[in-house]
Amino acid sequence: MSQNPVRIAPSILSADFSALGHEIEAVTEAGADWIHVDVMDGHFVPNLTIGPVVVKALRKHSKQPFDVHLMVTPVDALVPAFADAGADVISFHTEAGPHVHRTIQLIKSFGKKAGVVLNPSTPLSAIEYVLGDLDLVLVMSVNPGFGGQAFIDSQVRKIAALRKAIDALGKPIDLEVDGGINPHTARLCIDAGADVLVAGTAVFGGGSGGYAANIKALRG
Ligand code: DX5
Ligand code: ZN
Repeated sequence: MSQNPVRIAPSILSADFSALGHEIEAVTEAGADWIHVDVMDGHFVPNLTIGPVVVKALRKHSKQPFDVHLMVTPVDALVPAFADAGADVISFHTEAGPHVHRTIQLIKSFGKKAGVVLNPSTPLSAIEYVLGDLDLVLVMSVNPGFGGQAFIDSQVRKIAALRKAIDALGKPIDLEVDGGINPHTARLCIDAGADVLVAGTAVFGGGSGGYAANIKALRG
């Protein structure tokens, strides 16, 4: 298995929104490898969060890569603004297109890493013909829209199948999982072949004194 080292990406969706700059500094200090930013449009998903202006303002609070998860449709018109705001990885849902291959090329044209997100019901076949163009695949282990939901077990099988497909290609494509990650589900995902774990509640729950221990507990 050519899994990359495990990286933990705290989702700032569960941070204190009145102090996001401080929260990002605290979680970076605590050992976060990436900063996961959930962008929701109140249309593709039933929640509304932050836009590129906020991402740009937050960018200076950490040197770690910003992993921007776009839950917006249509997606292409917003890609330039998030690239300019300082995103390092930009991921979008296959359903948010309408043209998945075009959006991947658009993200790459800004020199950013391109990721595609698979909802719990989205089959692997949705990315069969673009897998080799991707830097990252994100498996949703909850339905997108909210933090604090329960992990959907069926996604472990999808992670394992994706690990096989990535290894067969022989490219260092990151395999990320998002939703319901805690020390127990983190272990299931790592064992199935995941190498980037997003966690909101499990990192930010309980106050900043616990961030370092919370991140460490997810590394397995
Ligand atoms: C859900 C978001 C997740 C969410 C994870 O739409 O994509 O990143 O914040 O939250 P937890 O870790 O609490 O499930
Ligand atoms: Zn996310």
